Amino acid sequence: MNKSKIAGIAFNVPDNVITNHDLEEMMDTTDEWIQTRSGIKERRWVKPGIANSDLALPACKEAIQNAGINPDDIDAIVVGTVTSDFNFPGMAPIIQQKLGISGHVPAYDISAACSAFIYLLEIGDQYIKSGKYKNILLIGSDIMSTIIERTPEGRATGVLFGDGSGAVVLQASNDDSGILSTHLFADGKGVEHLGAKAPGSFFNPLRIDEQIVADRHHLPVQNGREVFKNAVKRMPESIEVALKENNLHIDDVKLVIAHQANRRILEACAKRMNLPIEKMFINIHKYGNTTAATIPIAICEALEQNKFAKGDTIILTAFGAGYTWASAAIRW
Ligand code: UT7
Repeated sequence: MNKSKIAGIAFNVPDNVITNHDLEEMMDTTDEWIQTRSGIKERRWVKPGIANSDLALPACKEAIQNAGINPDDIDAIVVGTVTSDFNFPGMAPIIQQKLGISGHVPAYDISAACSAFIYLLEIGDQYIKSGKYKNILLIGSDIMSTIIERTPEGRATGVLFGDGSGAVVLQASNDDSGILSTHLFADGKGVEHLGAKAPGSFFNPLRIDEQIVADRHHLPVQNGREVFKNAVKRMPESIEVALKENNLHIDDVKLVIAHQANRRILEACAKRMNLPIEKMFINIHKYGNTTAATIPIAICEALEQNKFAKGDTIILTAFGAGYTWASAAIRW
């Protein structure tokens, strides 16, 4: 069975920086509150007119180039997002078209919110292991700024999110490097604690109408404390599962790259794992929570900063709406 590896990776974020002070002008909030409670200093928001696929496209092109292949070599495209260009069809066929891929390759989206990137890795890894496809393009990308309410009432979730995209090409590995394990989990008890209900068939007969918007059901709602409590429990648990599966000790791990939702969550997870904080990658201060994109962005930045290199073992972990959570162990 083929092991899969990340053969190409890249990310893209908008140029438009929104600082906490900018948010003070829009929302009933302060720089001090945002930094103390979340660790976020700034985030990027796309300018009007930019769709998710526009943001993702440069990352896709660069990841394909890094993998040393052409768009027409891609055998399948899978996107993880909660902010697709359209209600349907998915974003993956739009990416297929924008990349100019001429083959009728499969292209579809999954919805696993902040855990999406690790869910994608498992899907791609299984395709490679089974021998079905050779080059899989996986994209974690979200434009959360399009579901942020830029008013005083929007502060509860509006200050937390940013826009970003990450793309990887998975290929069969011919050496020791590759994905060692993936573990995916969910618990539907979390549905009520984080999400945006509309547009949705819950609102039968119309997925969205003026009343639904007036009731603000199209905007995200989060029970922050409940989500926080679960995140600090589930991410370390999922790391433990990855360590056990691979007969590893936490000291064998060069770097943990966790979903960036809150600096305090990352610190609490490191403490629970007895992991020195330097081994927990943190870049939330720059981008906020970019949902499906936090992990590929963090991998790219950690590589740029030489936080790990070929031969090192890293562990990815994420927690988000659903609840969904996951881990992946990778030998780089
Ligand atoms: O990525 C998906 C998974 N998501 C997460 O992992 C997020 C998990 N949760 C969290 O990160 C934190 O719960 C938050 C950052 C969302 C909130 O931090 P918190 O310490 O749990 O604050 P809180 O929600 O308990 O709110 C504390 C106070 C409240 O005021 P009162 O009731 O104490 O008077 C809020 O109304 O802070 C108020 N508040 C704000 N104040 C200024 C809430 N949002 C803001 C704001 N600016 N933006």
